[in-house]
Amino acid sequence: MSAHPSTPANPPAQGVSPVARVRLHHLQAAKNEGRKFAMLTAYDTMMAGIFDSCGIEVLLVGDSAANTVMGYSSTLPITMEEMVVFAKSVTSGARRALVVCDLPFGSYEVSPEQAVASAVKLMKEGGVHAVKLEGGQYFVPHVRALVAAGVPVMAHIGFTPQSEHALGGYRVQGRGEAGQGLVADARALEAAGAFAVLMEMVPTEAALLVDESLSVPTVGIGAGGATTGQVLVWQDMLGLGSGKSARFVKKYADLRTVVAGAVSAYHSEVLDGSFPATEHGFGQ
Ligand code: KIV
Repeated sequence: MSAHPSTPANPPAQGVSPVARVRLHHLQAAKNEGRKFAMLTAYDTMMAGIFDSCGIEVLLVGDSAANTVMGYSSTLPITMEEMVVFAKSVTSGARRALVVCDLPFGSYEVSPEQAVASAVKLMKEGGVHAVKLEGGQYFVPHVRALVAAGVPVMAHIGFTPQSEHALGGYRVQGRGEAGQGLVADARALEAAGAFAVLMEMVPTEAALLVDESLSVPTVGIGAGGATTGQVLVWQDMLGLGSGKSARFVKKYADLRTVVAGAVSAYHSEVLDGSFPATEHGFGQ
């Protein structure tokens, strides 16, 4: 019998000691030893449980939930309260992965104090282990304050979706001379205490330069293969969405076709009366 829908996807087995949590020092060891790690977005307990059981080291409660779950055309509208709900859902399904949560647009820019208050809410109410914030050197005081307050911070540079309008749309960042700007941002954020630097949509050569300039691990999305970690949005890599994927997405499955096939079969069987069959009913 399948579990009740409210049962976490990956509950701890009785009598089995909990699996060791992925910690910051494991990610740092990967960088030091030239190993890789994988990160994937997650927004709900069942998918988080599956990804966790597959060994994904880091789950990102991305503000991309604004697009993938809520249907907005950008990440800007999602609120702290909504992020807390997604965070709780993911942490209830993840036993081993480190769970990082995005600070949503408007929840940290005003001051280091605002950033700390928002991160504390995500950790206290959402149960996440670290936060991610978008932006370069301007956010050094914010990162310092977060780290001093005991909040691990992943910095996100390159294309930063929350600044979509300021950046003139989805465009590769750090081409040519601008690559040095990425290195300067990454170094400043590392010095402020960021435990990792994520780069989105930057040229492979620039990402390599940043990675070689830092002691902390880097994570890439559309940044080539030189980074310590890679991250993808799960609906993209499992082929759930409609429309054209970004160049940096590799589709590992075609869930949209699988789901549509199964739902169409269910629909037909309900209409023609072949579902439910006798075995789906209860006897006296
Ligand atoms: O919100 C998100 O999914 C992200 C990834 C694109 C890195 O920030």
